[in-house]
Amino acid sequence: MSGLILSIESSCDDSSIALTEIQTKKIIFHQKISQEKEHSAFGGVVPELASRLHAELLPQILEKTQSYLKDLKAIAVTTQPGLNITLLEGLMMAKTLAYALNLPLIGVNHLKGHLYSLFLEKDSIFPLGVLLVSGGHSMLFEARSFTEMKIVARSIDDSFGESFDKVSKMLGLGYPGGPIVESYAKNGNDLAFSFPLPLKSKKQFAFSFSGLKNAVRLEIEKSKTKTMDLERFKADICASFQRVAVEHLCQKCNIFLQQNQQQDKQCQWKHFAIVGGASANCLLREKIAKLCEDYALILLLSPLEYCSDNAAMIGRVAIESYMQKEFDDFNLQAIPKMQTF
Ligand code: KG4
Ligand code: ZN
Repeated sequence: MSGLILSIESSCDDSSIALTEIQTKKIIFHQKISQEKEHSAFGGVVPELASRLHAELLPQILEKTQSYLKDLKAIAVTTQPGLNITLLEGLMMAKTLAYALNLPLIGVNHLKGHLYSLFLEKDSIFPLGVLLVSGGHSMLFEARSFTEMKIVARSIDDSFGESFDKVSKMLGLGYPGGPIVESYAKNGNDLAFSFPLPLKSKKQFAFSFSGLKNAVRLEIEKSKTKTMDLERFKADICASFQRVAVEHLCQKCNIFLQQNQQQDKQCQWKHFAIVGGASANCLLREKIAKLCEDYALILLLSPLEYCSDNAAMIGRVAIESYMQKEFDDFNLQAIPKMQTF
């Protein structure tokens, strides 16, 4: 076996380790232990609990990679953005391994990881327009190369995924809210409630989900004084909320795609991608696919299994750094708020 990179992901509530072959980009090993059940009781991620669970789970996964240790060429780890105390668990493990095995260390940006989840086991495609939707971020950016990323729009408050988590919590449906709200929405009437479309008339090129979340909260409060079919109500709230949240993303994506069309021909991108945990949302995929069709763009999506946080995408980014001999020293720090892309 030619050289491998061992990668570690612990930026939030998924403990994950992968082994990727540098030459072929093949994923040799990948395991992720999700902590969703443990955090579900609290309606969201509890950082201290997540950190303690990483300390327990990462070594369990690492043990399974023992027979490959002799083939390792580098150790990669997510360093930003994320929860400080959970990032530190992965970083400590990475530094220990790099030191003990005398291997170079590679710090990886988690959001770049989501971007490279498009290119697992294959070559990258640039330039492209990207919609990134996760629990921590909602943004639009242009990716021109491994190092050239230009963010053009971000959320001014909550992220898309986070708004699903909050709606789910308000309805008492559990965590993570994305898949739960999506599945409730399937049985609901998406026109039952006319929630306001965020930043509709504003020129501001940004996302916002807190107003929509508040509108949902008010409807739930009103419902407490009425007798009704509760399951129907929950399904209708989920469907109506999801319709507006997706429409908001699509409205801003439409502006982004228009802007692309107005660029010089040689600068225009022909591919558009949706990445991040919330890119698994079926309605979003369907609506963005239609938008891409209208603009004659090719839509790129990550395999469903790798939309949410995982170490394989971190390993894929690390291959690029390894090829360019971009290594970090032992001063490598965890950076909760993203500084560089
Ligand atoms: O990328 P990710 O795994 O973690 C972060 O980097 O934040 O994304 C997790 C987020 C959660 O907020 C989750 O509720 C949301 O993605 N999510 C979804 C769906 N699946 C996961 N949101 C909407 N629809 C989904 N099907
Ligand atoms: Zn993520």
